[in-house]
Amino acid sequence: MSAKEKDISGSKTMTKNPSLILDDEVFLRMNLAERIQHIVLITTFLILMLTGLPLIFYELKFLKPIFSLEKSFYVRGILHRVAASVLILNVIWHAYYTIFTKRGRNNFKELLPGLKDLKDAFELFWHNLGLMRFLYRKGFLKKFLEAHPYWLFEKAPEFGRYNFIEKFEYWAVVWGSVVMIISGFFMWNVELSLSLFPLWVHDIFVIVHGYEALLAFLAVIIWHMYNVHLNPEVFPMSKVWLNGKITGKELRTLHPLEYQKILEERKERL
Ligand code: HEM
Repeated sequence: MSAKEKDISGSKTMTKNPSLILDDEVFLRMNLAERIQHIVLITTFLILMLTGLPLIFYELKFLKPIFSLEKSFYVRGILHRVAASVLILNVIWHAYYTIFTKRGRNNFKELLPGLKDLKDAFELFWHNLGLMRFLYRKGFLKKFLEAHPYWLFEKAPEFGRYNFIEKFEYWAVVWGSVVMIISGFFMWNVELSLSLFPLWVHDIFVIVHGYEALLAFLAVIIWHMYNVHLNPEVFPMSKVWLNGKITGKELRTLHPLEYQKILEERKERL
């Protein structure tokens, strides 16, 4: 393994057994159903953003045509509702897939957050900051850090099938979808909403729908786009969402614990 690979992964467990897992061996990370669900999510999310956010930023000059032409405003509303309906169907399909297929259930188990994720987040933060190693080099806390090298955060934490960032993103989509669907449903059916709840509850639906949309927009633009495009480990783009494939080398560097698990299983089978 080259020094460069080691730098990129920052991984502790770099056992490489070329006879059991080849660097160019291909593993399936996202199957066709999962990729279609993801593409439908991207498409509906984009349409919902483009047809929803102008209502919040209606004062912006370049959005004025949407509001000045009666037809374009009407079409915007239709598009928002069509995309919302497809999003709801996609959510139902994903729930069905998660409950009724073995792979869906396994993915779900792997996505459940645990204490290790908190520990990983804490360790990755300090590892990336490099503060403790800097202080050590400058001669501060020398005795303590030599007695407790953990606090130097020399190695980045190792991840399994899903790291804490991927888990967080998944649960943010679950949570965001529930909030947007419930609030959007009652905004769509105002009479039903007002027959069930007082006006202030309906007002909360509208406020929550707008702010959650902004939050989701920023999270996707800043966070998700960094993790799957700009992150040096995957730059210019992780192609998993297109071909579903991950190589032995990517598995070893990005998901070393999953790599180890497969390696152990193969060793047992020998
Ligand atoms: C990620 C998903 C979604 C995003 C980003 C989104 C975004 C937005 C935004 C920003 C607004 C303007 C809110 C305001 O005026 O303060 C809005 C309005 C609205 N949304 Fe959504 N929305 C989403 C999903 C949904 C869903 C699932 C439904 C229906 C079940 C829905 C139905 C509505 C309705 C009825 C309005 C009122 C404006 C109109 O008549 O088009 N939205 N949406």
